[in-house]
Amino acid sequence: MTKTVLVTGGTSGMGKAMALTLKKAGWNVVVTGRDADRLHQMDIALQEIQGEHAVIQMDVRDPEACMAAVNQTRHRFGRLEALINNAAGNFICPTDELSPNGWKTVIDIVLNGTFNCSHALVKGWQEDGVSGGQILNIVASYAWQAGPGVAPSAAAKAGVLNLTRTLAVEWGYKYQARINAISPGPIERTGGADKLAMSPEHAERIRRNVPLGRFGTPEEIADLATWMLSDQARYLNGECIALDGGHWLNKQPF
Ligand code: COA
Repeated sequence: MTKTVLVTGGTSGMGKAMALTLKKAGWNVVVTGRDADRLHQMDIALQEIQGEHAVIQMDVRDPEACMAAVNQTRHRFGRLEALINNAAGNFICPTDELSPNGWKTVIDIVLNGTFNCSHALVKGWQEDGVSGGQILNIVASYAWQAGPGVAPSAAAKAGVLNLTRTLAVEWGYKYQARINAISPGPIERTGGADKLAMSPEHAERIRRNVPLGRFGTPEEIADLATWMLSDQARYLNGECIALDGGHWLNKQPF
């Protein structure tokens, strides 16, 4: 039976690439996002690929909207096996200049949004008796390093990484589920690259810090995600794979 995956923040960048690649790989794909126009464009792009898909407008910060999206998906496809928590919000701001609402906004999208969607998903698993479902979280290497200038995102991603490991144990036992994460390095054509590599000079500095000498592509992230959700990765649980050309390891101390 064809399995169904829901990709949050799936209308651009890595989310879009993952949705398109997973549909090509034979998944039913549901894309969520906040922007109706972008969802419409994504709907058109997905129509080019054989198989079934849906687009749903919602904000991961709203728990009821997350539950409604999961239920809409279950109604359409029978059940929902997999979730990619890709939706994110981020901006560069020195922490001493950050407002409490700026902090809360990023934490709400990244950490609470991941919980909201995962929690809605597991309620669906319970009702449908899904065993062997999956969650893939998108984190960043500053989840385990420092994140100067992006404190809320770094703290939220650290929380998501911990949630990945916690649920890998809890829901591994309970639902035979696999919960994993990808830590993308600098990836071109993403909201993160647009926001964090602020000038061509800055982007070039980042590029030089990648041992493989280039930004990654959304399609490379999508290929890894597709493998991680596939049966080939059936013993992978609680793992975070850095796909970054060796970027996070490069401290250049000498
Ligand atoms: N520097 C400092 N504070 C900022 C900021 C910046 N660049 N951008 C937003 N904020 C603050 C706002 O000032 C506001 O706080 P305040 O009420 O105290 O003024 C708070 O964050 C919320 O901003 P708002 O624009 O109302 O939030 P939103 O829900 O409309 O948007 C964001 C959320 C800010 C994360 C927005 O950038 C977004 O939607 N991003 C999604 C895409 C993205 O970030 N992609 C990259 C992922 S790596």
